[in-house]
Amino acid sequence: MTGGRGEAEWWRDAVVYQVYIRSFADGDGDGIGDIEGIASRLPYLSDLGVDAIWVTPWYPSPFADGGYDVADYCDIAPVFGDLARAEALIEEVHGLGMRLIIDLVPNHTSDRHPWFTRALAAGVGSREREWYWFRPGSGPGGDAPPNDWPSVFGGPAWERVAGDGDPTQWFLHLFAPEQPDLNWANPKVAEAFDGVLRFWFDRGVDGFRIDVANAMAKDPALPDLFDRATGDRATRAGDGDDRLADHPYWDRDEIHETFRRWRRIADSYRDRLGGPKMFVAEAWQVRRGGLARYLRADELHNAFNFEFLATAWAPDVMRSVIDRHVSMVAAVGAGPTWVLSNHDTVRVVTRYGRAPGATAGKEPHLDLVVGLRRARAAALLTLALPGSTYLYQGDELGLAEVEDLPDEALQDPIWRRSGRTIRGRDGCRVPLPWSEDGPSLGFGAAEPWLPQPAGWARLAVSAQSNDPGSMLSLYRRAIALRRSHLVGRGHDIVWPETGPGVLAFDRGGSFACVVNFGTDAVALERGAEVLIASGPLDGPNLPTDTAAWLIRP
Ligand code: NOJ
Ligand code: MG
Repeated sequence: MTGGRGEAEWWRDAVVYQVYIRSFADGDGDGIGDIEGIASRLPYLSDLGVDAIWVTPWYPSPFADGGYDVADYCDIAPVFGDLARAEALIEEVHGLGMRLIIDLVPNHTSDRHPWFTRALAAGVGSREREWYWFRPGSGPGGDAPPNDWPSVFGGPAWERVAGDGDPTQWFLHLFAPEQPDLNWANPKVAEAFDGVLRFWFDRGVDGFRIDVANAMAKDPALPDLFDRATGDRATRAGDGDDRLADHPYWDRDEIHETFRRWRRIADSYRDRLGGPKMFVAEAWQVRRGGLARYLRADELHNAFNFEFLATAWAPDVMRSVIDRHVSMVAAVGAGPTWVLSNHDTVRVVTRYGRAPGATAGKEPHLDLVVGLRRARAAALLTLALPGSTYLYQGDELGLAEVEDLPDEALQDPIWRRSGRTIRGRDGCRVPLPWSEDGPSLGFGAAEPWLPQPAGWARLAVSAQSNDPGSMLSLYRRAIALRRSHLVGRGHDIVWPETGPGVLAFDRGGSFACVVNFGTDAVALERGAEVLIASGPLDGPNLPTDTAAWLIRP
């Protein structure tokens, strides 16, 4: 396996840093992060030692879902900059030896995208409507949605077209109504996206993160999900204990034809550092073992392993999740891919600080000291695993979820669509603290679009940079040690015998990662050198919720 900056197949062992653009750094002083802001912080990312940067959607958008509602795939939202600034950023990133990947949102467009407004205008039965999923309603007068599919953001997945004449149609939106789903069975849609891929590859982008890659294909019969009489999920052929088998929209086999088509386009390019272009899939709902299908040799390169993210802080389940992923991807010749969090999930420190089984916002028992200790150990665990790691901005600062944002500040469509009962994902999207003072802790010259908690000054980059005990220092050192000691060791891991409560694995004989999940300190292997530990050691022992990397002579 190769890895590191400038080498082929760099994505196999990469650390990829996720920039949630609205919240990373604000260069023009409007309170919203932008491309200029990213550019101004590239030295920070280079010092951190990451191989690549993934920037979340930067396209023109009405921002009904933070930019995951794209109104033009081949341009930049004015709030973020313009095409020339984006092209310059790509150059700047490459100049520092890093790669840039961007978000592709192919499952749905914005309802303001010309493809959709054109479809509305062209009317019932038109070819333009075939780009989306327009259907007559059900029930008397067609007043009910065409089927029972729910939107991921709450409520039905169908919206009735206003003023559509008779019969009125409805259109499908698995997410917000402002995000109509494209019809990937229409060859015109596939052709249009070939052009989008080429547009950005031609401009030097090194790859794409594919939004809801697992929802793009639909069963064209659009069958109900639930049995109307019993309320059970309708049973279909092959629907054993796996409720996603033959699901009408999650993880359908038809999608893979599109990925093979995209792979042929990607393989016709080389990136400017000589490596191939790459894709990473976001696919939460897949059948058991299903990620391997996305990673076959002629399909995608990486797919986020969300099972690992969702695993409780417990060694046995973690080990089996790790093992399963490593062997699953190896079977198709792909590399493992680890994620601790992203802009859709609760921040790591908070997640590990909650008592097991807690739900967002409702859990009285939250211990951020425990959460931080575990997040530090998890950072070492993740960075020691073979394969690529995707690091979400702010996790390297140990930021916790902001759970007390004022109601009126919330922008996530989940808040509105749940009737203001589910607060949504804004708590992990609060703009980053860069310095200890100023109106936005160095984020920009104006009040940030979401308020930062008072306590964040002490977590600012400037405060952590020179503190050897900080989370930022831990990440910087671990990423550097990973490059010098781990990249190039291959993807095999070996699990030595350990006592209860301990997770330990070896890579390439001389390297070991040990994590103590138990309540008592455990003895570290004698004679091995401790390369790094996530917290203070207790003499020769590894304390609870602490991880260490060992190198044997
Ligand atoms: C996944 C993205 O990460 C999320 O932020 C977005 O809301 C949905 N896909 C819909 O595009
Ligand atoms: Mg700005």
